[in-house]
Amino acid sequence: MAETMKGMHRTHRCTEVTEAQIGTTVTVMGWVQKRRNLGSLIFVDLRDRSGLLQIVFDTKDIGEAGFEKAGTLRSEFVVGITGTVTEREGAVNENLKTGHLEVRAKELRILSESLTPPFPIEEDSQTKDELRLKYRYLDLRRPDLQRNLMLRSRVATKVRAYLTEQGFLEIETPILNKSTPEGARDYLVPSRIHPGSFYALPQSPQLFKQLLMCSGYDRYFQIAKCFRDEDLRADRQPEFTQIDMELSFVDEDDVISVNEGLLKAVFAEVGVDVQLPIQRMTYQEAMERYGSDKPDNRFGMELVNVSDVVKDCGFGVFSGAIANGGSVRGINANGQGAMPRKKIDALVEFAKGFGAKGLAYMCINEDGSVKSSFAKFLTEAEIGALVEKMEGKPGDLLLFAADKDKIVFDVLGNLRLHLAKQLDLLDKNVYSFLWITEFPLLEWSEEENRFVAMHHPFTMPMEEDLDKLDTDPGAVRARAYDIVLNGTELGGGSVRIYQDDVQEKMFEVLGFTKEAAYEQFGFLLDAFKYGVPPHAGLAYGFDRMIMLMAKEDSIREVIAFPKVKDASCLMTNAPDAVDEKQLAELQIAVLKEETD
Ligand code: AMO
Ligand code: AMP
Repeated sequence: MAETMKGMHRTHRCTEVTEAQIGTTVTVMGWVQKRRNLGSLIFVDLRDRSGLLQIVFDTKDIGEAGFEKAGTLRSEFVVGITGTVTEREGAVNENLKTGHLEVRAKELRILSESLTPPFPIEEDSQTKDELRLKYRYLDLRRPDLQRNLMLRSRVATKVRAYLTEQGFLEIETPILNKSTPEGARDYLVPSRIHPGSFYALPQSPQLFKQLLMCSGYDRYFQIAKCFRDEDLRADRQPEFTQIDMELSFVDEDDVISVNEGLLKAVFAEVGVDVQLPIQRMTYQEAMERYGSDKPDNRFGMELVNVSDVVKDCGFGVFSGAIANGGSVRGINANGQGAMPRKKIDALVEFAKGFGAKGLAYMCINEDGSVKSSFAKFLTEAEIGALVEKMEGKPGDLLLFAADKDKIVFDVLGNLRLHLAKQLDLLDKNVYSFLWITEFPLLEWSEEENRFVAMHHPFTMPMEEDLDKLDTDPGAVRARAYDIVLNGTELGGGSVRIYQDDVQEKMFEVLGFTKEAAYEQFGFLLDAFKYGVPPHAGLAYGFDRMIMLMAKEDSIREVIAFPKVKDASCLMTNAPDAVDEKQLAELQIAVLKEETD
């Protein structure tokens, strides 16, 4: 039978016990990490969220019965212990904060017992993810996850403090909303009172924060839960958290300036000194140099456009791609010229995964000669010019893609990252921030056969491009900015449209009729008729921010109860079927798939 805490009060967390308490009596409570019997002594490592503390049981202090009870302790039992703090008699453990201390137990209470856990509760567990997530409550006892969640809490506090100090108000926006399906797929919630009608969970507080600007709140922020029904990846969850903000009477420089201050303040929490101002780069430059709108600039291997060198060459793959309006670009994998053929073939396959028809390569031998999949189609002079353009040296490996720009960027951008991982060029201790600006306003959707907003339909076009909205919508740049950290899109935002005529034009380009725009966004458009301040904002992926701070590879490691790839929760089994009665109340019938 479990004992109670009656009359016993915890005085310290495990690692709050320090030299200052030597000779005094303390009461600690937590989980048994490990018990060792050494004949006349029993040692227990006691664990709580602060860390470990060694407890010694000796009949001299606790009596025969107490000693016997200590002998029944097993891993993960929850205990309360009162005892005297002493200097450690045995070997000092330098790895532990309390490694030179121990508590000699005078009283032991077993507050609850534990089954043998399905995996050891320890740092860097090698346990399979499925098992960890099924028993997430045990997984969360592990010190690495505890550190991550404590960091998350500290950073949230820091964010609140900084933004409050900057005059921001924390305001909550609704979770049950109207569906405005622009962007990702919505999660829907059926209404009982209005059968056949649905709420949508917010993909972000975007429209509400703009309304708050109309209402004069000036500077808003929220640490907001967002929901998107999209395919999951290491840095994507169906529900995730944003640090969301909006400001009135500002332009992009104001937003950037407030946010550079925020980044400086919060990254200091993990000892990172963010150098300000953060480098800014246009979308166009990012694509040309890194083949990505979220470049990882911790390493070089930048893309080089070699189109002018090979446009008339005898290699049809190259000259053909250029003739078709595409380009030929390459990257130089310095020092990889001796890469075995098998590995190069694997790179070709990798490239094909991103839509490349192939990947042409050229190894530069130590004597300056080349080994290449296409050099035979080129003259000596063309080879020389190509190597020079690529700044190729003996021992280098040059890789080329020829296609439409979009494919070339995608292939080489991803290949560059793939090689950096293979060659171990990505140092997690380096934090390289970058603002990407001047995004295209629109992108063509093959699926919908129309332009869609790259960010959202309320993003302001750049003034100098306004006239192109009619003639060349694809070339219009937006007053949008992303903040990128080590190749991850940490956050993004924009200056918003606040003029009727520009907004109308935008809807027109997006293929919305006036009626359709009103049907979806009428409340915002109406609000804009009653005096709207110029405004702009930004939102960070909070989970991603913590992931990078904690040097983790997945946001699952910084979310207490995450979902897996198929958007289910292995612990609770959500989503799950519901009662017929619940469905009937909602007037919902589930179509069952025919089984034969
Ligand atoms: P955006 O859609 O770019 O902008 O989202 C902002 C940031 O949220 C993070 N994020 C995610 N994190 C985890 N899982 C996901 N599924 C996920 N989706 C997005 C990213 C991203 O940069 N309302 C606008 C912001 C604005 O204009 O103010 C918005 O939501 O880090
Ligand atoms: P092929 O003439 O098809 O045997 O191709 C010769 C070399 O060019 C091979 O190494 C192919 O992988 C490569 N290649 C083919 N298509 C492309 C392309 N679109 N871009 C770059 N290299 C290519």
